[in-house]
Amino acid sequence: MLSLQDLEDVAMKVMSHKAVAYYSSAADDEITNRENARAFSRFFFHPRILRPISQVDVSTTILGVKSSIPIFASGAALAKLGHPLGEVNITKGAGRTGIIQMVSSNASLSAAQIAEGRLSPSQPLFFQLYKHGDNKIAEKRVREIEQLGYNAIFLTVDAPVSGNRERDIRAPYELEEQEREGQPTDGQTAGEMPRQPDDVEKEIEGQPNLYGTAGALLQNMDLDMTFKETIPWLRSVTKLPIALKGVQCVADAVLAAEAGVDAILLSNHGGRQLEYALPPLEVLYKIRQQRPDVFDKLEVYIDGGARRGTDVLKALCLGAKAVGMGRPFLYAQSAYGEAGVVQTVRILQREIILGMRLLGVTSVDQLTPELVERVDWQPL
Ligand code: FNR
Repeated sequence: MLSLQDLEDVAMKVMSHKAVAYYSSAADDEITNRENARAFSRFFFHPRILRPISQVDVSTTILGVKSSIPIFASGAALAKLGHPLGEVNITKGAGRTGIIQMVSSNASLSAAQIAEGRLSPSQPLFFQLYKHGDNKIAEKRVREIEQLGYNAIFLTVDAPVSGNRERDIRAPYELEEQEREGQPTDGQTAGEMPRQPDDVEKEIEGQPNLYGTAGALLQNMDLDMTFKETIPWLRSVTKLPIALKGVQCVADAVLAAEAGVDAILLSNHGGRQLEYALPPLEVLYKIRQQRPDVFDKLEVYIDGGARRGTDVLKALCLGAKAVGMGRPFLYAQSAYGEAGVVQTVRILQREIILGMRLLGVTSVDQLTPELVERVDWQPL
């Protein structure tokens, strides 16, 4: 296993049809998903020579929490579809390698089970929140997360409704009991409702569920969130740092900074929500060009399509503090469980150290915009 692609290839051989469909699918014709990755290939380096590079430090902090490499696992649902142990594979792998896992609101295991899976109580975890439409229920959820010792809340803002993922819709989508053993079934949490018996009834009556696995998950969502109300509300119910996950344009990055959140994750949900949403790397580049002041007000991360150490270095050069990865960690744990997650981090660490040396830098704060250039041609 030399690259993340190697791990993905193994995962594709061992996963069920349903898991492949749910993990790899994206919206409509999956163009945004493909372009998320292709965007990285439009940025080229200006490597510097004759600089000392024997001592390289690739560590950083994310929302004040130490991370061994500038990468985190983005919250992605239903790890048990790919491996019987589910999300704790990522928890343990992250703990062993010193990176941070963001736990999905739609994890196969409960937030408590995942917290218990940490190697030690001091191992950091972030929580990805799908906000319930009822503030009281949402508040209860946030307080539970805080009590469990999670270190930050990533409020997902790009998925009030589920995108049109046709490969997922076509796949058999019933969630098996064992895949959701830790989840409440009383409707008390947003985005965590398995399909209900009457959904099946409706389908029998000829109304197909057109939302696939994702549609079964995104229920009770708050469809009326706003910068003015939702951010102050979240601040009032938690002391944890708050990040917005799913910022997709410069204007919203500016509004997020004005709203006083601690961080934004530029993301289009891995191309799974609005087809033709711009790749996060391009959004990052636009912020760098148009509103570089945003980088002084909050931490900026991106996710979507990053698969190589050089992808991460490009994002950091443009001002990102860290890069998230969704599918790579799902595939890694599907292929080899915890060991796959450890190997994923090792591969990325090696690629980042190598890339930094060849760029002529020895710490992540030396990665600056002058070291990259956006070209207007697309390599083959
Ligand atoms: C996701 N993503 C996601 N995001 C979120 O906020 N809550 C969630 O429950 C999920 N679930 C989920 C499931 C699967 C199977 C995928 C592939 C993605 C989006 C995820 O956090 C992240 O934004 C993308 O995965 C990043 O793109 P890459 O790295 O997968 O290309």
